[in-house]
Amino acid sequence: VITPLEWINGKLRFLDQTRLPLEEFYCETDEVDVIVDAIKRLAIRGAPLIGIAAAYGVASLRTNVNDAIYIRKHLMDVIKLLESTRPTAVNLFWALQRQSSVLIQWKTNSIADLQKQLLAEAKSIHQEDVEMCEHISSLGAELLPFSCNVLTHCNTGRLATGGRGTALGIITKAWELGRIKHVYIGETRPLLQGARLTAWEIKKWNIPATLITDNTAAYLIQKGKIDVVIVGADRIAMNGDVANKIGTYNLAVLAAHHKIPFYVAAPVSTIDFQVQTGSDITVEERNGREVTEVFGLKIAPEGMGVYSPAFDITPNKYISAIITNLGVLHSPFNDSLQNLRSRGESAH
Ligand code: MRU
Repeated sequence: VITPLEWINGKLRFLDQTRLPLEEFYCETDEVDVIVDAIKRLAIRGAPLIGIAAAYGVASLRTNVNDAIYIRKHLMDVIKLLESTRPTAVNLFWALQRQSSVLIQWKTNSIADLQKQLLAEAKSIHQEDVEMCEHISSLGAELLPFSCNVLTHCNTGRLATGGRGTALGIITKAWELGRIKHVYIGETRPLLQGARLTAWEIKKWNIPATLITDNTAAYLIQKGKIDVVIVGADRIAMNGDVANKIGTYNLAVLAAHHKIPFYVAAPVSTIDFQVQTGSDITVEERNGREVTEVFGLKIAPEGMGVYSPAFDITPNKYISAIITNLGVLHSPFNDSLQNLRSRGESAH
C-alpha cells in the first residue's frame, strides 16, 4: 500500500512526490518549516493530504518553553504560516481551523496536554479522511456502468488523500467490482500529476490504462472512447462551482458537448460553506519556471512571459453529480449543498 504520509515516533514521514515515479524517497521531520516547504513545492499535494499534513505540522510543536502565553502566540503564527502555503484547496483551512479550535479550547495551560490534544486532532483528521474516501469510492463506483471507459485528470488517489482517494478511489473500487474496462489518464501539465503519479498508482493496481497528453482528450471523446469523466476538487462553492486542477474545465465542457457524464468526487472537507460561487475562490498562480522548464531543462526562450494558474473553475451547469462521503448531490446544487450542510450541522 502507498503511504504518502505517516506519523511515526513524534515525526512526520512523507513521500516526496516531486521525485516520483523515478524515486520513492521519504523524508522525516518534526520541523514546521520543512512541512511548509513540502506543501509549497508539491512534495505533499492533493487537497485532503495538504490538510492532513498541515494538521500534523501544528501538532509537531516541540518546545521546552513552559509559557502558555508564548505557546499560544507561537502556534497562531505556525497556523498562519501553514495557511500561507497554498490558497485554493479549502481542506487546508478546514484542518487548520480544527487545530485552532483545539488551541482555543486549551484551558489547563499544560503544554504536554496541548501537545497530546493537537496530535489526537491531527490523527482524527487523518483517520476521518480514510473513511470519507471509502464512502466516496463505494457511492461513486455504484454510479458507473459495467465495463466502462473512464477519463480522469491530475491525481486524486492514495497520493492525494489519507485513504484510497476520491475520483481515483472510485475508479479502483469500480475496478474491483468489474465496472472498469479501461482508464485514460490526462498527463496534467505543467507538473504532470497524471503522468507521474496517477499512472504510477494505477500500475500498482494492474488496471488497463493509457496515458494521453491533455490536448488529446477532445479527440478521444469525439471518437466515442470515453463513457464517463471523473475528477476531484480543491474547493466547492455553495452553488456547486468547482475549483480543480487546471484543465478540468476543458474536460467538463467537452463532456457536456459529447453528452457523457462529468462527475466530481470530494469529501465534505472540500466544500466551502462560506463561498457562494466559483468567482469568489482564490486560484493559485504558480511560478512560470514550471512551464518554461521541464525537470530543469529549458523548453522556452529565456525571458518568455508565462501565465500558469494551478486550478480552474468549472461552472456547476457542466457537473452531472458531486459525489461526497455523505451522498451523491445533483443539480440544483444550491439546494443539495444547503441540505447537506443542514444535515452536517444537526449531526453535531
Ligand atoms: O496542485 P495539486 O497537485 O495539489 O492539485 C491536486 C488536484 O487538483 C486534485 O484534483 C484535488 O486536490 C483533489 S485530490 C483528492
